[in-house]
Amino acid sequence: MKRLFIKTYGCQMNVYDSARMADLLAPLGFTATETAADADMVILNTCHIREKAAEKVYSELGKLKRLKEARAKDGGRMVIAVAGCVAQAEGKEIIARQPAVDIVVGPQSYQRLPEMIAKISRGTGHALETEFPAEDKFDTLPAPAAHGATTAFLTVQEGCDKFCTFCVVPYTRGAEFSRPVAQILAEAKGLADSGVREITLLGQNVNAYCGTGPDGNAWSLAKLIEALAKIDRLQRLRFVTSHPRDMSEDLIAAHRDIPQLMPYLHLPVQAGSDTILAAMNRGHTAADYLKLVDRIRAARPDIALSGDFIVGFPGETDADFKATLDLVKQVEYAQAYSFKYSPRPGTPAAAIARQVPEEVKEARLAELQALLTAQQKAFNASCAGRTFPVLFENPGRKAGQAVGRSPYLQPVHVEDALSLIGSIVDVRIEAVLSNSLKGVLVSSREKALAH
Ligand code: SAH
Ligand code: SF4
Ligand code: F3S
Repeated sequence: MKRLFIKTYGCQMNVYDSARMADLLAPLGFTATETAADADMVILNTCHIREKAAEKVYSELGKLKRLKEARAKDGGRMVIAVAGCVAQAEGKEIIARQPAVDIVVGPQSYQRLPEMIAKISRGTGHALETEFPAEDKFDTLPAPAAHGATTAFLTVQEGCDKFCTFCVVPYTRGAEFSRPVAQILAEAKGLADSGVREITLLGQNVNAYCGTGPDGNAWSLAKLIEALAKIDRLQRLRFVTSHPRDMSEDLIAAHRDIPQLMPYLHLPVQAGSDTILAAMNRGHTAADYLKLVDRIRAARPDIALSGDFIVGFPGETDADFKATLDLVKQVEYAQAYSFKYSPRPGTPAAAIARQVPEEVKEARLAELQALLTAQQKAFNASCAGRTFPVLFENPGRKAGQAVGRSPYLQPVHVEDALSLIGSIVDVRIEAVLSNSLKGVLVSSREKALAH
């Protein structure tokens, strides 16, 4: 038996890929372990989106090198693999910078890991795979193993053709590719059979999904969701990440018509200034985005919105930044992520002369985050006293406690609820804490009175 440690950086697609790598290596005798120190094989599944994310990988590799040397002294062996978007972007460079690395494998090639491991165990040096496209991968991967989880990710689409000028994803994940409908339905049914009650559909541009359906036609994400909603015992569906330009009418209608689709939408806008949106190549204006938000809210009035923002994109003026704050004030987000612009090698924006000074980025980020945090707090506060269906996922920290998620993805803690893990139960929110909600089970008597 060999021990495998996978460390995952970056987005949910990497979380999905890490789970699939573990499934792929299980038949070779690898079982999961919690630390690198006792692993026979370590995989760093990396992210290239911002400089910090990529640099973390090299400091981690430095630590692994020392572990590997210590292991070799004792006559043992540790295999180090770098997977994910840094692997794709930097390829051989990684081995040049850290020769302790044995394997470099891109996000579309990890189905080749078993042969790569065999190759290096024959002592033939390093192994490198950074091939596209994604079809290959999904055709060869085994079905996900059952882990007893209540929620799961399912990648339905990979890659991106949008080429926002700041972003590495089109280079690290390649062109947009949608998995065929039948393959996705089979994977989702398998997950539901293994006890999964909520699936989050993943794609860099998930709402650009256009996979081939069983009828031979290209299916939209809305049509796929409609089919998934028919799967027995699959009670909740979510999808992430959407691009405003691909938010089609049928997908908006799905939020109105399909009860399994949760009233929560991550819809990044990045900036509120039309000049900056154009320089980013986002393909829409701030007004377009606000109109879209109105249409979505008209279809599903209780929908909670979340977003991503970049401050300090090259050339961003105080007035541009103010436009971002104004947009945020108009939308009122329930949750959001915000970042300082990070110039990425090979992307057009990195070559723009007018880069924004670091201290200006810092100040803008602080101001934006204060506003977003206040909105998130206000949203959470508005939940006090309301009753939500909560899908219980895990035991809480206290004995007997269970933690689940509201339809709006907020963690909800409830006492004496351990036996409810895996089911959806009505919970009345009694307290709003800083990052979660606290609730009590709504008794059947209360429910009867309410009806
Ligand atoms: N496909 C998604 C986002 C993928 S990356 C979309 O289109 O919105 C996740 C987030 O990282 C982005 O939304 C963006 O806010 C941020 N990001 C991407 N590149 C960045 C960069 N160079 N610097 C700072 N933030 C970046
Ligand atoms: Fe990156 Fe833009 Fe594609 Fe999102 S849509 S992954 S931000 S290029
Ligand atoms: Fe990072 Fe790659 Fe995801 S760059 S955000 S891991 S697609």
